[in-house]
Amino acid sequence: MTKIIKIFDTTLRDGEQCPGASLNTEEKLDIARQLARLNVDVIEAGFAIASPGDLDAIQQIARTVKGPYICSLARCKKADIEAAWEAVKDAEKPMIHTFIATSPIHMEKKLRMKPAEVLERAVEMVKLAKSHCAAVEFSCEDASRSDPEFLYKIIEAVIDAGTTTVNIPDTVGYTLPDEYGNLIKSIIKNVPNMDKAAISVHCHNDLGLGVANSLAAVKAGATQVECTINGIGERAGNASLEEIVMAIKTRNDFFGLATNINTKEIYKASRLVSNLTGLLVQPNKAIVGANAFAHEAGIHQHGVMCARETYEIMDPSDIGLKESKLVLGKHSGRSALKKRLEALGYKLSKVNLEKSYHSFIKLADKKKDITDRDLESIVSEEIYTAPEVYKLKSLNITAGTKRKPSTELVLIHKGKTIKTKATGSGPVDATYKAVKKLTKTDPKLVDYVIQAITGGTDAQGEVTVRLTDKGRIFVGHGADTDILVASAKAYLAAINRLVSAAE
Ligand code: KIV
Ligand code: ZN
Repeated sequence: MTKIIKIFDTTLRDGEQCPGASLNTEEKLDIARQLARLNVDVIEAGFAIASPGDLDAIQQIARTVKGPYICSLARCKKADIEAAWEAVKDAEKPMIHTFIATSPIHMEKKLRMKPAEVLERAVEMVKLAKSHCAAVEFSCEDASRSDPEFLYKIIEAVIDAGTTTVNIPDTVGYTLPDEYGNLIKSIIKNVPNMDKAAISVHCHNDLGLGVANSLAAVKAGATQVECTINGIGERAGNASLEEIVMAIKTRNDFFGLATNINTKEIYKASRLVSNLTGLLVQPNKAIVGANAFAHEAGIHQHGVMCARETYEIMDPSDIGLKESKLVLGKHSGRSALKKRLEALGYKLSKVNLEKSYHSFIKLADKKKDITDRDLESIVSEEIYTAPEVYKLKSLNITAGTKRKPSTELVLIHKGKTIKTKATGSGPVDATYKAVKKLTKTDPKLVDYVIQAITGGTDAQGEVTVRLTDKGRIFVGHGADTDILVASAKAYLAAINRLVSAAE
């Protein structure tokens, strides 16, 4: 039988540690549900001791998301382990993940502990975690810069103490594929009880090698890979789930392995994480980038038309990408929209379907062909936005080479129409000043990105903004055939989140 490599997803923990990514509980729940549909083996849902918000989100995920193990991170500290247990104890399959650094530099400079003390603490905390929970993972933080002899010792001791999975992180993304593969082989060879626990790998991407290192480790005998959707995470990110899973699947001839992942849910998971975190996927990103299955060169297009496999090593439908480009137009009704959305994997409630239908009809009036990407953007705008405390009624912009850009903005707030005018250094600046005036908010704009959803001059522009206010981050998306309207919608969506959070 084909050996299964377990997928431990840490999008909601290491991924959320990414600069600029900040999710509320509802958003974390949405992502956790999608991870369950993806059929990951473990969801690391957060770091319970970090904040009451983290604890609450993990608890809610533990109580409602079935299928995968639900795990919380904990340092090798009593309070951390207790908080982690509090967070996951109601899960169908709870897990505690505890870690302590094992490299000389971390032990000496950060922990100020001797190796013997680190080992003793690790054993004590694994025992404590084990007293609560059958599934316990132990990580040797900065393992790739640790002395292998010390790793063998500590790993043997924590397995004796009850650890069910031992993780060997490349915390700072320093290792290289051959070196890391050899480390995994040497651990398997030199830890006498290694057969009693799973061996996991966790690679960061500082040298762009997170996926390559993870795959080298799998080839060397690792049985679990830790990764994140779209590769989001600390600094340059973590190894990307979709790349690892599709490499194992596509090169089954080389690995002879499989995962439990339902790959048809990959694309949706990628879009969801990007929408909710506001971290855009680069167009040339492997597997899920907008160009990953696009063929521009004539020779390639001809080849693909003759036989897809000439230039495509994966079938786009394997990651849930439907090929249909031209889908619906302004004469399509609700049931056609519902059917197409279901084919894309969106099962909407009546209310959300109705909202999406209205946006669809508005767009179809301006744009002839509505593509799947247009539909996805409608759904993400309608469903993943906060309640519309402020609603855009109209926007009038004057700008040009010889005049100062100015905006007349009309919003609806609590059933009343409110309006103002503002000028700015450009039309977007003028609009954002007008929004701030009317909503009496003053966040800092940290990111503003425009993308064309599909080709053509009638394409929709999708704008993503990220605002910060009192240390919190608010993301907003807006799509429209007019990029200034899209810019206003995105900004208002983020402001609505800010205002809702404040309320
Ligand atoms: O990168 C790392 O070492 C970690 C550990 C907490 C597993 O994220
Ligand atoms: Zn990490």
